[in-house]
Amino acid sequence: MRTQVAIIGAGPAGLMLGRLLERAGIEAVIIERRSADYVLGRIRAGVLEQSTVELLARAGVDERLKTEGLVHDGVEISFDGDMHRIDFSGLIGRHVTVYGQTEVTRDLMEARTSSGASSIYEAEDVSIHDFDGARARVRYRKDGVTHEIACDFIAGCDGFHGVTRASVPKKALQLFERVYHFGWLGVLVDKPPVAEELIYAHHERGFALCSMRSPSRSRYYVQVDADEKVAAWSDERFWDELRRRLNPEVAERLETGPSIEKSIAPLRSFVAEPVRFGRLFLAGDAAHIVPPTGAKGLNMAMHDVRLLADALIQHYGDKSDAGIDSYSAKVLARTWKTERFSWWMTSLLHVFPTTGAFGRRIQRAEFDYLKSSRAAATCLAENYTGLPD
Ligand code: FAD
Ligand code: PHB
Repeated sequence: MRTQVAIIGAGPAGLMLGRLLERAGIEAVIIERRSADYVLGRIRAGVLEQSTVELLARAGVDERLKTEGLVHDGVEISFDGDMHRIDFSGLIGRHVTVYGQTEVTRDLMEARTSSGASSIYEAEDVSIHDFDGARARVRYRKDGVTHEIACDFIAGCDGFHGVTRASVPKKALQLFERVYHFGWLGVLVDKPPVAEELIYAHHERGFALCSMRSPSRSRYYVQVDADEKVAAWSDERFWDELRRRLNPEVAERLETGPSIEKSIAPLRSFVAEPVRFGRLFLAGDAAHIVPPTGAKGLNMAMHDVRLLADALIQHYGDKSDAGIDSYSAKVLARTWKTERFSWWMTSLLHVFPTTGAFGRRIQRAEFDYLKSSRAAATCLAENYTGLPD
């Protein structure tokens, strides 16, 4: 088999890239190791930047988003119960849209199914070859049969634990990483959100986040130790812990119920440099990870694939490799700005075991600064809603 672009991974990055290429008349195959249902079952991001919303529109997959997406003009930051709103629209005239990653994925998958574009799910032992040479190849096994795809380019959209970055020779890569000693325990519940906007809360017992998926479905998180097990957290224990970390009036309003999903996500900052190796391009979580505090991972993935799609369109259409050649530098320039913001939000809002009382006083001072300084609030608003290119 032969194609122009082999895309490894059917997460939001791979599916969006496939869609953008398909609309530009470039042939692409998506190879995913899980089933479509498994991919749809992963509960992750919820907040879309305006540029992500615009990309979904460009891809022609924003019908449901237009009616079901919730526009948010600000967020609440709470510190030991003291609440402060960051007014995005008042400060900079921008907003974010709350719409689940699951829904983005579903919309992209449905568009792909109806256009008949080629996707291979449940592909085993995916491997990539010769991406340094004149023609790259992807190999995988499906139902016991080995297949090979020859292609012009490989897009590594296979997430942090994928095969593409791992296939690059160690000496060609520089890796930057910070692992945090805590994770987020998340619960999804069919109850109305506790507030109209998201609440990011710092408390001496740890971080908490009140988010949502719709007017009747909420998503809540609490900071837990990295080695904590989901099984140790009954719904009751989760709700008690969440209430303790919120402003008492907010806690009073919280509507609880049986969880419909509960999972722990580890927190990590990670960047690989560069993100292009000959005919292989890394995009999304395969190239970089941010802790979820800034709500940036999915938005970064969308930014990468927009650049990559435009570079490939330029390659095939204008016969110019300018976009391909600048891909890595452009992705990395934006990545580090977003890494900085996500690290900063994480540093302000979590409890760190090693920084002690001094660290908490500094965090309080940072929160007070955010409250009193229009410049500090503007900085948060600009980064949260999405920096321009
Ligand atoms: P993935 O979604 O990881 O997709 C990669 C795909 O590749 C997967 O389907 C995987 O099965 C497949 N794959 C892996 N290995 C192979 C292989 N060897 N062969 C073939 N296929 C393979 N981001 C935001 O922007 N906003 C938020 O509010 C936000 N909240 C988050 C909350 C949590 C709790 C978590 C964990 C993440 C959050 N994120 C958020 C981050 C966001 O979910 C990720 O950044 C996003 O999923 C990245 O998309 P991706 O397509 O690059 O990778
Ligand atoms: C979510 O709704 O899952 C969510 C929202 C904001 C974040 C992270 C996750 O920063």
